[in-house]
Amino acid sequence: MRAAIYKKYGAPEVVQILEVKKPIPKNNEVLIKIYASTINSADWRLRSLEVPKGYGVLVRLAMGIFGPRNKILGMELAGVIEEIGKDVRKFKVGDEVFASCMFGAHAQYRVLKEDAAIALKPDNLSFEEASALSFGGSTALLFLKTLGDIKIGEKLLINGASGAVGVAAIQLAKYFGAEVTAVCSGANAELVKSLGAEKVIDYQKEDFSKNGQTYDLIMDNVGNASWSRVKNSLNETGRLLLVVAGLLEMIKAAFVSNKNGKRVLTGTPKDKSKDLQFLAELVEKGKYKPHIDNIYSLEEIVAAHSYVDSGRKRGSVVITMLPSKLTMTI
Ligand SMILES: NC(=O)c1ccc[n+]([C@@H]2O[C@H](COP(=O)([O-])OP(=O)(O)OC[C@H]3O[C@@H](n4cnc5c(N)ncnc54)[C@H](OP(=O)(O)O)[C@@H]3O)[C@@H](O)[C@H]2O)c1
Repeated sequence: MRAAIYKKYGAPEVVQILEVKKPIPKNNEVLIKIYASTINSADWRLRSLEVPKGYGVLVRLAMGIFGPRNKILGMELAGVIEEIGKDVRKFKVGDEVFASCMFGAHAQYRVLKEDAAIALKPDNLSFEEASALSFGGSTALLFLKTLGDIKIGEKLLINGASGAVGVAAIQLAKYFGAEVTAVCSGANAELVKSLGAEKVIDYQKEDFSKNGQTYDLIMDNVGNASWSRVKNSLNETGRLLLVVAGLLEMIKAAFVSNKNGKRVLTGTPKDKSKDLQFLAELVEKGKYKPHIDNIYSLEEIVAAHSYVDSGRKRGSVVITMLPSKLTMTI
């Protein structure tokens, strides 16, 4: 099968398309023929090793000191089950699915355990859209619901509202009944309004931490809304949700949270199976939709990585494994 392989950390050019062995499912695994995947901020970080402050050594230890142990990036996918192991009960050959995985989705095939984070693809999404359903959505669910305990009528500010996590967070916050202020560049104002944001702050013209407004929740998807910068923009029991946090910020988070009615919360999504199910149901109800910026073919993966590296993508960048480039029109 064809796969995008990276043998060393670095610029987009470290990724090359090579022929590798097609995986064979074990008894409790399914073989998914991948139709689409995404290149997201996790792929960018793990390829370039541009990680939040303080994590450089830890990430190298976890991912490979001299080069990546897992040589195929790709954390989410959509495709069709082509083969199942003899003990598999949850899925059958021909099922159209989407999934979240640690690595391996920038390839034509991926095996996953049947109880991994896999769900049936909603009928009203293309494979390209479904491939972009899990990363931003499960991150936004963790921060808004599990950690932030967002409630109807609460005021939420989303800093970095136009990336994959931001566009998911706007839609989920609206679903949970919150009032959303989106911070983005002027170029993305229409996009965030179309997804449900009531107010938009252009970060190139206004500093949200200095305009006197306060919020029940501030979600930081950029990494520039530290506690010291934004604490006065939080209500008395406000929560600062640090989606991007350096090691020091993480340590400080626990300390600040103990001493104040205000809290700082951070983390990473763990078991995503339930999230995928929840997101698929919202899609079917017409309450949620992944936003796709651009679609590249697998052969164009270096260009796709370069675009993600720009830091300017809106929602998700998709790569398609199908021979014809566009199976959907955007
Ligand atoms: N904790 C976790 O488990 C977890 C999970 C997922 C992601 N993350 C982290 O969360 C961050 C966001 O992820 P993502 O996937 O949403 O990233 P992304 O899609 O790459 O974000 C790109 C967006 O960021 C916007 N942006 C850039 N600088 C900005 C600024 N100063 N103010 C406001 N918006 C700005 C850009 O809009 P403009 O072009 O308009 O500036 C662009 O639309 C990443 O750092 C990622 O590593 C953490």
